[in-house]
Amino acid sequence: MVIPWWRDAVVYEIYVRSFADASGDGVGDLAGIRQRLPYLRGLGVDAIWLTPFYPSPMADGGYDVADYRDVDPLFGSLADFEALVAEAHAHELKVLVDVVPNHSSAEHPWFRAALRGEGRDRYIFRDEPNNWQSTFSGPAWTQVPDGQWYLHLFAPGQPDFNWRNPEVHEEFLDVLRFWLDRGVDGFRIDVAMGLYKEEGLPDVKDQSFKAASPIWGRPEVHEVYRDWRKLLDSYPGKRMAVGEVWTDDLADLALYVRPDELHQSFNFAWLQAPWSATAFRKVIDDTLATVPFATWVLSNHDVVRHRTRYEADDPGTGPARAKAALLTMLALPGSAYLYQGEELGLPEVRDLPPEARQDPVFLQSGGTLPGRDGCRVPLPWSSGGASHGFSPDGVRPWLPQPPDFGALSVEAQNGDPGSMLEFYRRALTCRRELLGSIPYTIEWLDSSSDALFFTRGPLTCAINCGVEPVRLPPHDSVLMATGPAADDRLPPDTAIWLRTG
Ligand code: GLC
Repeated sequence: MVIPWWRDAVVYEIYVRSFADASGDGVGDLAGIRQRLPYLRGLGVDAIWLTPFYPSPMADGGYDVADYRDVDPLFGSLADFEALVAEAHAHELKVLVDVVPNHSSAEHPWFRAALRGEGRDRYIFRDEPNNWQSTFSGPAWTQVPDGQWYLHLFAPGQPDFNWRNPEVHEEFLDVLRFWLDRGVDGFRIDVAMGLYKEEGLPDVKDQSFKAASPIWGRPEVHEVYRDWRKLLDSYPGKRMAVGEVWTDDLADLALYVRPDELHQSFNFAWLQAPWSATAFRKVIDDTLATVPFATWVLSNHDVVRHRTRYEADDPGTGPARAKAALLTMLALPGSAYLYQGEELGLPEVRDLPPEARQDPVFLQSGGTLPGRDGCRVPLPWSSGGASHGFSPDGVRPWLPQPPDFGALSVEAQNGDPGSMLEFYRRALTCRRELLGSIPYTIEWLDSSSDALFFTRGPLTCAINCGVEPVRLPPHDSVLMATGPAADDRLPPDTAIWLRTG
């Protein structure tokens, strides 16, 4: 069997606004990414996923798209994008872009026309709202001057498309072609389970992400991905799509990755699991039993960084646990998605001043929800300076960086064998070397309930989530460890890769 490139790929998510600013306006851009491609190649990832860089009023950081076929001047130009793809490919990095099909921006020409009364059927307008709530808090409906209401499952600046209108379907096939023709290797599909709503838009008792709820995971959505799959397969080079599918049950996730649909779906169950061997084992077992091509993810631009999540109940354990979870994830069959800054061990920034915050979750909830800005703080590239090297000298970034970011910068960690960054580099190199010799299956070995031991051919991975050291399983040598493992004992909050044979 020819293994498709994405099956075992390590994909690095670039939240474009916060990665690197070359233009000097305090906001990350495509030119900034181009400058850092050698860094990404050196880190050892296989692909990058770019969050939306399309023209947008930024009501939701670019997830409110006003033009699906261009680049916002804030981020550069189409020519910059084309250069980025060419240079990424020269660095042997694949490029995934975000596609946002559930909703457009309220500034999209179609919605502006709808407000004038033209083509309202491309969106969801009603004379009366139902009881649905916006995911960002508050009602999911906003009234327009002539008295009708439109549906927005997110911010009012993000009106939901009416996917029952064939024009919407055709439009997105054409948008995909536009980027495929520019050489992208795949797409990350935003809110992939949201496109269709139940006919009649009935009131709901709860808004959970169930398969075939009135709001999420309607069966009709799968026809869309069947058509997208045909389109992707018609291009050379194994183009792929990964869905952002929030579900309450892994079995629902499997529906999206049937052989004629999406290639992958994010596995948020892994990210939602607490620091617990039992919880990790359940997600691993359920995942491998239900989806043909597994993915693993610990952090992204929507959730509290995992270093901070894992230490919620045990302050100070975050960095060790983050390393151990990463090493475990990299040993599992399938592909791994990393989020920019996790390789530096960045924590969630909890104390951003309210006036600096821009996330609509914070703004729409009247400040009662912190929102997601805390995981979107611009990356520190160097130890000093007004932006720690994120922007050119003297420029302040769009979100303030905390004082300890200098010590976590790429410059501060480069070459320090004890740093998180060097640990990521070693782990990714070691994984790449192992991939050819390990099967796409795992076998569990006996362990105490606070630890997990599993093998993939010659590789054994062990993680200790308990409070006592555990005895290591039999092995011939140690490949990688996240902490000291002396006398055959694995300390708490530590993971290790062992070799046998
Ligand atoms: C997805 C994105 C998130 C965005 C939302 C609405 O969940 O990851 O950042 O706010 O969709 O587009």
